[in-house]
Amino acid sequence: MVAMNRIEAILERIPADRQGAKRHYGMHPYFTRRPANVVRTYIKHFTQPGEYVLDPFGGSGVTAIEAMLLNRQGLHNDINPLANFIASQVAETSHEDTRYIRQAVLEVRSACLAELKRLPTLSDNEIQARLETVELPQNIRLPSTSDVAAYFELFSPRQLLALALLKQSIDRISDASARGALLLAWSSTLGKLNTTFLSAHGRAESRGGSSIFSIYRYKVAERPVELPPWETFYERAMNVIEGKAEVLKQKRLLERTHGWVGGFTYHCLDIEELPAAIGHKVDYIFTDPPYGGHIAYLDLSILWNHWLGFEVPLSARQREIIVGGELHHTEDYYIQRLRESINICIGMLRQGRWLSVVFQHWNTRYFEAILEEAAHSRASLKAAVTQIGDTIWSMHKKKNREKVLAGEMILTFVKDGRGKLPHQRASAAPTIEELIDDALAQVTPDGAPFPGELLFNHIVLRAWSRGALHSLDLTRETFAEILKSKGWQYNTIRNQWVSTVSAVPSNYQLTF
Ligand SMILES: C[S@@+](CC[C@H](N)C(=O)[O-])C[C@H]1O[C@@H](n2cnc3c(N)ncnc32)[C@H](O)[C@@H]1O
Repeated sequence: MVAMNRIEAILERIPADRQGAKRHYGMHPYFTRRPANVVRTYIKHFTQPGEYVLDPFGGSGVTAIEAMLLNRQGLHNDINPLANFIASQVAETSHEDTRYIRQAVLEVRSACLAELKRLPTLSDNEIQARLETVELPQNIRLPSTSDVAAYFELFSPRQLLALALLKQSIDRISDASARGALLLAWSSTLGKLNTTFLSAHGRAESRGGSSIFSIYRYKVAERPVELPPWETFYERAMNVIEGKAEVLKQKRLLERTHGWVGGFTYHCLDIEELPAAIGHKVDYIFTDPPYGGHIAYLDLSILWNHWLGFEVPLSARQREIIVGGELHHTEDYYIQRLRESINICIGMLRQGRWLSVVFQHWNTRYFEAILEEAAHSRASLKAAVTQIGDTIWSMHKKKNREKVLAGEMILTFVKDGRGKLPHQRASAAPTIEELIDDALAQVTPDGAPFPGELLFNHIVLRAWSRGALHSLDLTRETFAEILKSKGWQYNTIRNQWVSTVSAVPSNYQLTF
């Protein structure tokens, strides 16, 4: 066994293999999913088999599922029931192989395929009449930023009926695991059979996704696409089968070769309630906290949570760590909760163990909250790696390439009981110009092209170590203007800043 106190931080960037794991990509969409191969590398590096790996903001479950598949005890938590539904369905391993899901697909097929195929031939009145006979959720109000006011307006009557018929057939499956797996496929189908689905340009009509994930609100497509319900569901079900096959195979392999000491447990709690619910310390935390603006997870998950019948109490919405949303959470609330979360994470770690936090934001106060609270909680920052190239280019990011921070930073701390705040210097704080010059000299000493986030992250850490992060007021506009004034130009094809005076090829340093 490797002694944990001899472990060093990971200082190198790990190239993301986004599509590599079918168990995460293609099963069900979720927000800001982390690349499984990166998460695996961190878990393997910082823990041993059988140890506890926690993600308190677990989302669709990449951390805890990968921990389980590495023969660790994966502990998953998220305040959003949709996130827990996805994670727990992927992690469910009670069957030997996927035959039980294939069998269930056949049952659903014989229960509703004929009627689904007839839907295009039915008149509007016939559809309405049939809708009266099936079970539908209530027609609730949607968040105020939505293009339409009520839930049913997210669907054409045919889509509503097709989804209801499919769900009715799935609900009748007797095997609970099979029902769960197909409900996951149905829930993923729900994300495609609605009016927020935007087809990807230049690709098959069925390729694309909901505006919920690309522009983070219920935007209705100008020309909504009506995908064929059975084929759409069938494709999603096959994806679930492929993903589950990976999970089951890996578990069986570990059982045969190493002995199974892995596991997966999940909670649906506000992070603050987690220490009491888990009741013991953990060996490693890898997490991707909510990012503040743009993504109001619970509001945006109504499409799924509502029809799946998952209650989201007002108390959960009040405790959600976001800026904005329907409850208009303030930035101060977000920062205070982000701070608390870091304190809770470090409190839950065993002494001498590690915490990795994935983060990126223009607001340097958010970084300050993380770095300062970690130091207060007596954990030391050991690495800050910019993961360039992991980006999923959402519509928002594509439109604002120059001003967007696309790469994530993985901040890794060790709970060593030390954790010092940087000394506040008596001399004047460095100016933004000085910090940018300083960072440019490190990131691109020879004038080679570089990604903006790499420079930005250098500036943040530089300002932090010089005790000047608090007074740093760097907007994305100032950042771009200063770079342009220094002879740099943003290249939207390479997504890098390129010198207008030097022609050195890109070979940027990837770590701090
Ligand atoms: C950036 S996402 C994590 C995504 C995840 N890394 C993945 O791979 O899918 C942040 C998550 O934090 C959750 N969250 C927000 N406020 C929370 C709170 N107070 N307690 C626990 N989870 C919360 C959100 O529901 C969201 O799923």
